[in-house]
Amino acid sequence: MKVGIITVSDKGAKGEREDLSGRAIRALVKADSYEYCIVPDEKEEISKAIVDFVDNKSCNLVLTTGGTGLSCRDVTPEATNDVLDRQTPGISEVIRIESFKINKRAILSRALSGTRGKSLIINLPGSPKAVKECLEIILFVIPHALEILEKGSVECGSLNV
Ligand code: MTE
Repeated sequence: MKVGIITVSDKGAKGEREDLSGRAIRALVKADSYEYCIVPDEKEEISKAIVDFVDNKSCNLVLTTGGTGLSCRDVTPEATNDVLDRQTPGISEVIRIESFKINKRAILSRALSGTRGKSLIINLPGSPKAVKECLEIILFVIPHALEILEKGSVECGSLNV
C-alpha cells in the first residue's frame, strides 16, 4: 500500500510551522511507501496535489490534514470534492460523531472523503491531536475499503468483519 499525506497549511507551506500533523499520520498509518507534501490553503493547489498523488504517484490512500474548518481560508473539502468521483459520507460522518464525544467542536469540521479511481481520499482536521483521534476511529475499515476498490468487488457478506 502506498499512502499520500498532504498537509494543508499556509504557515507550514512557508516553513513557519513544523508539520506535526503530517508526522502523526505517518506514525499511525503503516504503508510500504509514502508520498508527502505541504500545500498552502489554496483550492487549486490542494486539488492538484490530490490528483498528482492518485493519478501520477498511484497512492491507494490519500490523507489530508487541515483546512476543514470555518475560517475563510479553509477550502480543503471544496478542493477535495472537485476531484472525487464519489463521496464516502459514512467515513466522515462517523469521524464527526465519534470525535464529538471527545471534543464538541468536532462538528465544526467540514471534512469530506471519497474515491477517485481505485484510491480512497480522506480529509482530517489540522491538529496532531485531531489527526490521531480521527484516524483511530476509522483505521480498521481502510484495508477492506482498499480491497474493494482494488478488486472491483468483494463478497462482503462472507467476511467476518
Ligand atoms: N476532531 C477531533 N477528533 N479532535 C479535535 O480536537 N478539533 C475540531 C474539529 N475536529 C478536533 C476535531 C476543531 S476545533 C476544528 S476548528 C475543526 O476540526 C476544523 O479543523 P481544521 O480547520 O484544522 O481542519
